[in-house]
Amino acid sequence: MSGGLAGKLAAQIAQGGPLTVAQFMTACLHDPEYGYYATRPALGEGGDFVTAPLVSQMFGELIGAWAAVAWEAMGRPDPFRLVEMGPGDGTLMSDVLRTVRMAPGFREAADVWLVETSPPLRALQRGRLGDGVRWAASLAEVPGGAPMILVANELLDCLPVRQFVRTAAGWAEQVVGLDAEGRLAFGLAATPAGTLLPDAREGVVYEQSAAQAALGAELGARIVRDGGAALLIDYGRDRPGFGDTLQAMLRHRKVDPLAHAGEADLTVHADFPAVMEAARAEGAGTAILTQAQFLARLGIGERAEALVRARPDKAPVIGRQLNRLMAADQMGDLFKACCIHSPGWTPPAFEEADA
Ligand SMILES: C[S@@+](CC[C@H](N)C(=O)[O-])C[C@H]1O[C@@H](n2cnc3c(N)ncnc32)[C@H](O)[C@@H]1O
Repeated sequence: MSGGLAGKLAAQIAQGGPLTVAQFMTACLHDPEYGYYATRPALGEGGDFVTAPLVSQMFGELIGAWAAVAWEAMGRPDPFRLVEMGPGDGTLMSDVLRTVRMAPGFREAADVWLVETSPPLRALQRGRLGDGVRWAASLAEVPGGAPMILVANELLDCLPVRQFVRTAAGWAEQVVGLDAEGRLAFGLAATPAGTLLPDAREGVVYEQSAAQAALGAELGARIVRDGGAALLIDYGRDRPGFGDTLQAMLRHRKVDPLAHAGEADLTVHADFPAVMEAARAEGAGTAILTQAQFLARLGIGERAEALVRARPDKAPVIGRQLNRLMAADQMGDLFKACCIHSPGWTPPAFEEADA
C-alpha cells in the first residue's frame, strides 16, 4: 500500500468503508498532515495553477473599484467589514487596498478580515499585507454588527461536493473505496434515504454541495441582518446542470484525482444556482454575470488602454492578460461573478443581472 494521504485514506476505508467524494475532497485539501492547502499550496506560474488576480493586476484593481463604488452607494458606512474569503497569496487584497485609496475615507472605515484555513497561505498573506488586517478561520468568526463587503475568488470551487450517478436501477452515490490491490478506486454505493435528487437520464452525474449552499445561506442571512454585498467569482454553472466536474491540477496539468491525493489541487465547478437559491431563502437579493460581462462593465477595456499608454512596451503582455481574463475560450464565459446583496438594492455592475 502507498504512503502519504493515499495510504492514510486506504487504511481508513479498510476499517470504516468507502468515503463520499465530499469526504475525499475535504481530506485531500485540508487533512492536517497531508492536505494540499494544509501543507503545500502552490499558486502562480511556478506552482500548480494560476488564478485571475495572478494573471493581471487589472483584476484586483477593478474589484477594488467595485468595492469603493459599492461602499459609496451604501452611504459610506463607518465602520464596515471588508472581508476576503480564501485570499490565496494575498495578491487580490493587496491590489484592492491599493485601488481604494481613490475613495477618501474607505480605508479608514474598513475593518479588514481575511478568512483563511491554510497556515502556509496565512503566512504568505501576512508577508504581503503586513499589519492592519486580521485573520479568521471561518466567516462566523468575523464580527457582525456592521455592513460587509466581501469578495471571494475561487473559493466555492474548493468546497466539497457529493456525486450521484444515475444507473439503470436509479440513483447511486459515487464513493471512493479500494480496488483488489488495495488502491483508491471509485465505486458506487446506495444513495442514503431522504437524498433529494432530480430526474435525469441514465449515465448522468449530479453534484450536490451542502457546503456551497451553506455558504450562500450564511452570506444571505448576514447581509440581510447587517447590510452589504458579497462578490463570489469562480468557474461554474449559472443554471442547474449535470456532469462530473471533479478536477485535480498538478503543475498546470490535469491529473487523476485518486493518484495524487493531497499532492494536487482538487476542485469542482461552483453551483451558483444552489448558492443563490440558499441566499434568497434568507431574504437576500442575488445577481449573476459572466466574468467577461462583469469586468467589461467595470471598464477593463479602458483600464488596459491606460496601462498601455503608460507602458507602450508592455502592450503585448497586457493584451495577452486581457485575453486570458475576457475571451470566451479562456476565463471570460466559464467564470461567473455572482453577487449576494441587501434586498432592494442593486450593487454596481449588476444592473439587470438579477437571478
Ligand atoms: C484556489 S485558491 C484561490 C486564492 C485566491 N482567492 C486567488 O484568487 O488567487 C483557494 C483559497 O481558498 C482557501 N480555502 C479553501 N477552503 C477554504 C475554506 N473552507 N474556508 C476558507 N478558505 C478556504 C485556500 O486556502 C485558498 O486561499
